[in-house]
Amino acid sequence: MTSSGTAEAAKEEIELALSAFHSTFVEAFAAAPTEQVLRDEKAKLLGKNGSLTAILKRMGALSADARKSVGERVNALKTEVEAAFDARLREMVAEKRKAELEARPFDLTLPGRNPIGDGHIHPISQVRADVIEIFRGLGFAVFDGPDVEHEANNFTKLGFPPDHPATDMQDSFWTKSRHVLRTHTSNIQVRAMTTVKPPMAFIAPGTVYRRDDDATHSPMFHQLEAFLIDENVSLAHLRGILSEFAERMYGPGTPIRLRPSYFPFVEPGAEVDVGCVFCKQPDGKRKGCSVCKHTGWIEILGCGMIHPVVFEHCGIDPEKYTGFALGMGLDRVAMLRYDIPNIKLLFDNDPRFLAQF
Ligand code: PHE
Repeated sequence: MTSSGTAEAAKEEIELALSAFHSTFVEAFAAAPTEQVLRDEKAKLLGKNGSLTAILKRMGALSADARKSVGERVNALKTEVEAAFDARLREMVAEKRKAELEARPFDLTLPGRNPIGDGHIHPISQVRADVIEIFRGLGFAVFDGPDVEHEANNFTKLGFPPDHPATDMQDSFWTKSRHVLRTHTSNIQVRAMTTVKPPMAFIAPGTVYRRDDDATHSPMFHQLEAFLIDENVSLAHLRGILSEFAERMYGPGTPIRLRPSYFPFVEPGAEVDVGCVFCKQPDGKRKGCSVCKHTGWIEILGCGMIHPVVFEHCGIDPEKYTGFALGMGLDRVAMLRYDIPNIKLLFDNDPRFLAQF
């Protein structure tokens, strides 16, 4: 055989081998049951010790021309193998996904994952719950009312004169005609007295609004009103309830004091201080601190005996009935209890702040 004849034969042989290679990979890829088998098959074909490499090793026997055409064929085959491999792989992923989707999607009995951590009771919610609990224990029931209130219930029936500064646009948020965002929870006194016959003992926690905005004042804040109406209710009853509240809220022996003060709907009226809980010594004495401004006392609420005029406005006989009312700022109680320096912190809803409670 001439050398060109040998080269011819070698070329034929290689071409046959390449054709065989082609049918091998098509079948092998189609039959591969798993991704791993598919990858193994590909390695057997194209890898360093793969069958294509083995074929290429015989290229030396080819003429330069033949080497070129065979080389092109080999490159085309490689591309074909890669493409077939990718196609089969995609098919497998799709099959797997379909099987997953058809199977039960997830195990509902597994415990869930909690990416944001546990929730926390907001300090105001906590304080409100505690105060409600104390007053419930003393026989008071909750009476609810709206945030948008008619001026009659928020001001007029409570004895505010029409030119009282609180009724001013500068101090209150007026909405539609003759309605305000209630400036206190005392509107509930009117609502209760005009719908329920005495005796009654109610508390009313709620959101209130004033045009105020600084470190200790927010335009929206929280109050809790308490009032009791019956025959022969006296200032002594109010004093008793206040002492009881202070002890249950701030601990046994917590002293209170009443300072005369003015609210249009009570007579007499008073502001109530509790003994400062921050500088209290083991012997019960209070040495004064920055929270109580070195007085040993902290103001927590306003109160008084319900004014006869309010009874008249609400259709209750002031000759027969007397009553007391008090209103406390829950934000203030929360700030004191948790030593919160700025009221805004209560309303930012920053989880880093809330997580501390
Ligand atoms: N409503 C008053 C205030 O917001 C508080 C108060 C309530 C005073 C009941 C006396 C009686 O300041």
